[in-house]
Amino acid sequence: MPNLAVVGAQWGDEGKGKVVDLLSERFDVVARYQGGPNAGHTVTVGGRRHALHHVPSGVFREGVRAVIGNGTVLDLGRLVEEIEALAAAGVRLTGRLFVSDRAHVILPPMARLDEAAEESASEGSRIGTTRKGIGPAYQTKTARGGIRMADVLDLAHLEARIGELLDGPLAPWFRSAGSWDRAALAREIHGHGQKLEAFVADTSLLLNAWIDEGKRILFEGAQGTLLDLDHGSYPFVTSSSTVAGGLCGGLGISPTRVAGVVGVLKAYCTRVGCGPMPTELHDGPGGLGEKIRERGREFGTTTGRPRRCGWFDGAAAAYANRINRFDSVCVMLLDVLDVFDSLRVCTGYRLDGREVRGFPATVRDAERLAPVFETLPGWRRETSGARRWDDLPAEAKRYLARLEEVIGAEVGLVSVGPDREQSILRPGTWLARALGS
Ligand code: IMP
Repeated sequence: MPNLAVVGAQWGDEGKGKVVDLLSERFDVVARYQGGPNAGHTVTVGGRRHALHHVPSGVFREGVRAVIGNGTVLDLGRLVEEIEALAAAGVRLTGRLFVSDRAHVILPPMARLDEAAEESASEGSRIGTTRKGIGPAYQTKTARGGIRMADVLDLAHLEARIGELLDGPLAPWFRSAGSWDRAALAREIHGHGQKLEAFVADTSLLLNAWIDEGKRILFEGAQGTLLDLDHGSYPFVTSSSTVAGGLCGGLGISPTRVAGVVGVLKAYCTRVGCGPMPTELHDGPGGLGEKIRERGREFGTTTGRPRRCGWFDGAAAAYANRINRFDSVCVMLLDVLDVFDSLRVCTGYRLDGREVRGFPATVRDAERLAPVFETLPGWRRETSGARRWDDLPAEAKRYLARLEEVIGAEVGLVSVGPDREQSILRPGTWLARALGS
C-alpha cells in the first residue's frame, strides 16, 4: 500500500475530511502538514456531524494514528478543547495523536493582529480571513521569532521567549495589538501546553521510522490549491503551502516517500472570503447560486459564513492538476446538482479576447477573466441512494467524463451525500487499485 496525499483542488472546503475519513480505513497513520484552526473538516459518522479544526480526520478510525506536523500553526486552547470534545464523544487520542515539537503556536495577540488587519483594510483589499491568527503566526515564523511547541513546556523558558518576541524586531507590530502581560500570556500558554505534553513528539522522526517499518501514511492537506501561498490567487490566499509539495517541508518527509496524490473537488465551486472566483454565480436571492448554497449546506465550518457558489471551474481544476499532478480525483457533493435541468462547466478562461493558460498571477487579471462555459444536460434524478458506479444516471456519468477531460485526471471516487456509505469508489481506476480494491 503506497503512502498517499489528499489535497484540495479548489478554494478549500472540498470535502477532504470525508475522503480522509474514508481512506483512512486502509492506512495506519494520517498526517496533517499545514494550516491550523482556519481549517474546518466536517465528518459525519453514524449520522453525527463532527467539526474538526486541528485534529486530522482519520481519528474516527480506531487504531489509526494521527500526526499534526511541524508545518501547522496551533491555537493550543482550541486544540485542548477539540481533544476533550472528541474524548467526550468516545474518541480517545492518548497514545495515537502526535503533535510536532516544531509546530508553531498562535499567541492571542496574533489573532488580534489578524482581526485588526481585516478591520482596517479597505473593502477591495480585505482578505476575508478566518481571523484565527493564521497569517500573523506564519509571519512571525518566517521572521524567525515564533514560539514552537517545544518552547511551551518549560514556563521560565516560555516567558523569556515571549518577552524576546514582544520586545524584538516585531515589537511595533505587536504593540499595535495592545499591551500584553507576558507572565500571564506565558502562564496561559504553558497551562495548555501541560495538557498537551503527552502528545508532543519529533513527528518527522516518528513518521520516517513508521515508513521504514512499512506502515501506510495518508497525508492530509487543509484548505485548497487556489489558497496556496505561492500558487493560489495571491494575495487572497492563506499563509501556508497547501499543495502536495508542501507536505515534505510540513512533515519532514522526502518526496520519494510519497507514492500518489489524490485531488478533492466539489462537483461545483465554492469560495469563502474575498478574492477572485471566475465562475461565481451572482444571480441573487432565489437564483442558482443560492440553490447550490442551500442544497450543499454551503456555510463555513469554522466561521459560519455563507460560501460563494458557482459552476465547476475546470480551468482552475486543470491548473490545480498541473501543480499537484493528481493520480486520481474525488468528486464530492454530486447530489447537490440533482435538481438542475442543465449544468455549466468552465473549460477555460479568456482575457482581453485571448486564451489564458493556468491561473493569472495578478488579482487584477484574475478578476477580469471571462470563463468559457459549456452546457451539459442535468440528470434530474436523485443520486444520494447510488452506491455503485452503474447506479449513476447516464447524464451524471457524462458530466463526470467531461470533468475528467477538462481536469486531465481520472475520477476515482464520487460522493453523493455526507455519510460514508454515500461514496462510490470507481472500479478499474488508479485509486481503486491503490486502495487494493
Ligand atoms: P486565513 O487562512 O484565516 O488567513 O484566511 C485566508 C483565506 O483563506 C480567506 O479567504 C479564508 O476564507 C480562506 N480559508 C482559510 N481556511 C479555509 C478553509 O479551511 N476553507 C476555506 N477557506 C479557507
